[in-house]
Amino acid sequence: MNTGKPISITIDGKVCKSTFGKTILEIARENDIYIPTMCYLTKVQPIASCRMCVVNVEGVEGMILSCQEKAVDGAVITTNNRELYQERQNIMKLYNVNHPLECGVCDKSGECDLQNKTMEFNVDQQHFTARDQHRPVENWGHVSYDPALCIMCEKCVRVSTEITGDEALKVKFGGYSSTIINVKQEKNYASLGEAAAVCPVGALVSTDFKYTSNAWELTKIPSACPHCGGGCQMYYEVKHDRIYRVTNTFEFSNLCGAGRFGFDYANEGAVKDPKVFERAVEAFRKADSVIFSNQTSNEEALILQKLKEKFGFKLVSHEARAYQRFMNAYAQITGKHLYGGDLKTLSQSTAVIIFGSRINNDSPTVKYHINMASKWHRARVIYMHPMEDAEIKNIVTQFIKYEVGSEEGAAALLAHALLEDAELPKTLRASLDDLDIGNLSAESNIGEEELEALKKSLLKKHGFSLVVGSDLYTHPRAEQIAKLVALLEQYAGFNVICVPPAGNAMGISLVCDLDDETEGYTVGYNAQADFTLSALGDGDIDMPAMNQQEGTLTTVDKRVVPMNVALPYGGYVLNDIANALGERAEYTIDYTKVLPEEKGFKAVEFDALEDYFDTVGNEHRGYLLKVQKVSVRRALEEVEELQAYDGAVIYRCDPVEQFSPFTAKSRLLKDEAMLLGSQQFATVTKLQEGDVIEFEVDGVSFRRVFKIDTSMKGTIALNPTFDMGLSASLLSSYRFSRLVHKKTNNENIGNNDE
Ligand code: SF4
Ligand code: SF4
Ligand code: FES
Repeated sequence: MNTGKPISITIDGKVCKSTFGKTILEIARENDIYIPTMCYLTKVQPIASCRMCVVNVEGVEGMILSCQEKAVDGAVITTNNRELYQERQNIMKLYNVNHPLECGVCDKSGECDLQNKTMEFNVDQQHFTARDQHRPVENWGHVSYDPALCIMCEKCVRVSTEITGDEALKVKFGGYSSTIINVKQEKNYASLGEAAAVCPVGALVSTDFKYTSNAWELTKIPSACPHCGGGCQMYYEVKHDRIYRVTNTFEFSNLCGAGRFGFDYANEGAVKDPKVFERAVEAFRKADSVIFSNQTSNEEALILQKLKEKFGFKLVSHEARAYQRFMNAYAQITGKHLYGGDLKTLSQSTAVIIFGSRINNDSPTVKYHINMASKWHRARVIYMHPMEDAEIKNIVTQFIKYEVGSEEGAAALLAHALLEDAELPKTLRASLDDLDIGNLSAESNIGEEELEALKKSLLKKHGFSLVVGSDLYTHPRAEQIAKLVALLEQYAGFNVICVPPAGNAMGISLVCDLDDETEGYTVGYNAQADFTLSALGDGDIDMPAMNQQEGTLTTVDKRVVPMNVALPYGGYVLNDIANALGERAEYTIDYTKVLPEEKGFKAVEFDALEDYFDTVGNEHRGYLLKVQKVSVRRALEEVEELQAYDGAVIYRCDPVEQFSPFTAKSRLLKDEAMLLGSQQFATVTKLQEGDVIEFEVDGVSFRRVFKIDTSMKGTIALNPTFDMGLSASLLSSYRFSRLVHKKTNNENIGNNDE
């Protein structure tokens, strides 16, 4: 009620000003006052299992847990005295019961909370013992669990529940035999890497990293994850030109499995061959078009833009272009060049609508924040999509299935339902009132009762988020859909996030003046073309992978964040080619300070970009894009007749934690690229499990083994593209397409619409 009201408390004699709603521990940390903790993890709700954080509050009997006690105005607090010290020392003695202090063989040695606090509280011998139990180490795939080292702080369980939402880890209670169990071992969730990251001891560790290096021998290189567009904070931990592991500032930020385990994609062994370089320069000189993938930093995008301005070629990047068009139309309603939403507000929502994205696959970090809203605020989560997703069933409170292709109708129904009482400009009100709701309902297959139920989810007055994704950007009516979505930000106060496609699509869309299609002689940058520059090492000239170069990325939170060089690279970079073509920049990062200010970038040198979280978790990573005003054109078009997608349909969608040929290269993220469909899909297509089929999308040929997934329903199959190498960048159409295929096990069954 009074949350946010200013208060003043005294801690150890220091007057601390803060706001009501914060715990004593939070206020102490804001004021650089140290209170020891063992089970506290800032990013989850207080666990309150260790008692290390005890303090005395004047006038209150006994010891108080500072991690869960909210401070009241005027409180006088003591964080340390003889009695508190002894309490903490006793706790440490208890922790050390049967926790072998043979740290030399433990993976966590050198960065272990138990080790540190054992020394801090002067526990130099094991005072108590309990009967030894035989509890073998369990290998859970990406992570391994050693029950003998577990101090039952429950941090891992909370991360698995409150943050990543895989809900794999649980506590099995039983006194001294209490243990953590993995109830979803068969899934081998890579997201459990995040649970291992928060383990204060060596109980839950990365199976791959285990026993490979001492923590103190590794150099930490701060960077940002380039995979899904989330741009999560990370460190490459490196020794002898090899990445041993990826870690993060786990107290405040998160990494999905792709960020944590998909780090070994560098272009190794590249060398400088002047003849090849000359050919590359020549290729740019004569290029009619340049096509490039999303695995391109803001600075590289600017280099390509400058070359376009100089040579006049077409500049193409399909996903970024689709996103650019969508956002340009969106801005016509809101008058701002960026969407208004952010992840923190998303995690605090009381209701979240997901529309046009298989969010668990498309953006793990966005899914995590939706999960947080669900767990912390019991948010209603409404998932609107043509396919159900079994992986997010645990948080979805309403699934609204619409017909493939009917996104414009679905968006119109949504706007109509949610803006019923909103004050709109006359023309917009007229457009919404003129909608033929019955017809749209019938065509999209969204019932009025479903929309009524959705409206009931928004009973609270505020705290609504809307997350939209790539299904909408690639839709033939993307611009109209963008405007309908934007109405909800502008007139219904939704925290809207238009999730950028994977990689740096958002940055590219802001930096480049993109064209729709290539023509003539084409140069490709991480895209297949007449002359190909490739960071996969399979093109006409080598380029550095993202972890071999400096530059910035633009994140889903509209932040420009730095990436640093983790591994050496011996070949040429795009900047070398640009210089040979008349540009003048010693380093690629010379472009950081000249990224377009009219698109919200700031004139800041790369080396001046900050990259850390402060002690209370404020993010100092690069800078936030500045919102630019754009002129509005608040008009809607008529909703077009919906195109029907009968029969079998394929949906361009990678498996969870796969995003590109670069994650595909990862040793630890091995995944098979198969066409995954339901039994119903098999029946409609007359396919059997194991059949090999061939089909084309946007001129790219696919050859897939078909596999039945019993958790799926309906006649849409998932077609991954992460294994398609540089040809994946050529895909440009709507994410759903009708399957017209040829079976290759000798029998030609023709196309499915016969
Ligand atoms: S495995 Fe680690 S994080 Fe999980 S309860 Fe045990 S000590 Fe805590
Ligand atoms: S893939 Fe996305 S969610 Fe995962 S760590 Fe990278 S940026 Fe974050
Ligand atoms: S930190 Fe408060 S009980 Fe553990």
